[in-house]
Amino acid sequence: MGKVTISSLNRMKRDREKIAMLTSYDASFTRIAEKAGVDVLLVGDSLGMVVQGQDSTLPVSVDDMVYHTGCVSRVAQHAMVIADMPFMSHGTPEQALNTAGRLMKEGGAHMVKIEGGAPQVETVRHLTERAVPVCGHLGLMPQSIHQIGGYRVQGREERAGVQLLEDAVALQRAGAQLLVLECIPALLAAEVTQALEIPVIGIGAGVETDGQVLVLYDMLGISVNKVPSFARNFLEECGGDIGSAIATYVKAVRDKTFPAKEHTFE
Ligand code: KIV
Repeated sequence: MGKVTISSLNRMKRDREKIAMLTSYDASFTRIAEKAGVDVLLVGDSLGMVVQGQDSTLPVSVDDMVYHTGCVSRVAQHAMVIADMPFMSHGTPEQALNTAGRLMKEGGAHMVKIEGGAPQVETVRHLTERAVPVCGHLGLMPQSIHQIGGYRVQGREERAGVQLLEDAVALQRAGAQLLVLECIPALLAAEVTQALEIPVIGIGAGVETDGQVLVLYDMLGISVNKVPSFARNFLEECGGDIGSAIATYVKAVRDKTFPAKEHTFE
């Protein structure tokens, strides 16, 4: 099994082979996830909630992200490792470059993820022109939770849907090589996926994106937080075996049986 690179992910999009992404925050889960066939490991700032017990992702620091990215990248042998740029670590292009530099040089990340649309375009260009691969993140953006006022579906109104599509195209033009769409109507996610050349990964965004991502602790049903309706408890289905639970998730993503209708928004 070779290393997953951006070329492999582009090839998978071209061949309509679904990409299985999962969050991971430590070495042991990383080893299990890789063995189960996960293509991309996301060291998400969701670790603030599921690992640290915070009530949002906002308190997560760059040091926290560097630490957990190192825990994952030191043992990952095949999967691509993406690290989240935490809240207030990418306010200007220069600050973002400094954060991304730490995540890649000290943490060993292969790519960084940034939440935000039009306001982040200049930053994404600044990073990608300096050899930092970037994954965008649109739809529900947990770092903006106090602006949004709750974890709810985004892009339902026509104007918001058009804006999201425009933002996605702008991020791609700025050099983003991957995009995560969180908690948006399935039809809008399908439209964005078709419009972009880069692979699009969904979470609560229907089955037509090029791949899926879930928070590991949500799909194992072990999170201290309320599990979102778009997640499925694979651990329960697999009789408590973590390796089988993750392998079943990967298979369900590949054969498009996850997400099903009940995990999807209209
Ligand atoms: O932080 C995270 O885990 C994420 C995923 C929910 C996409 O951004």
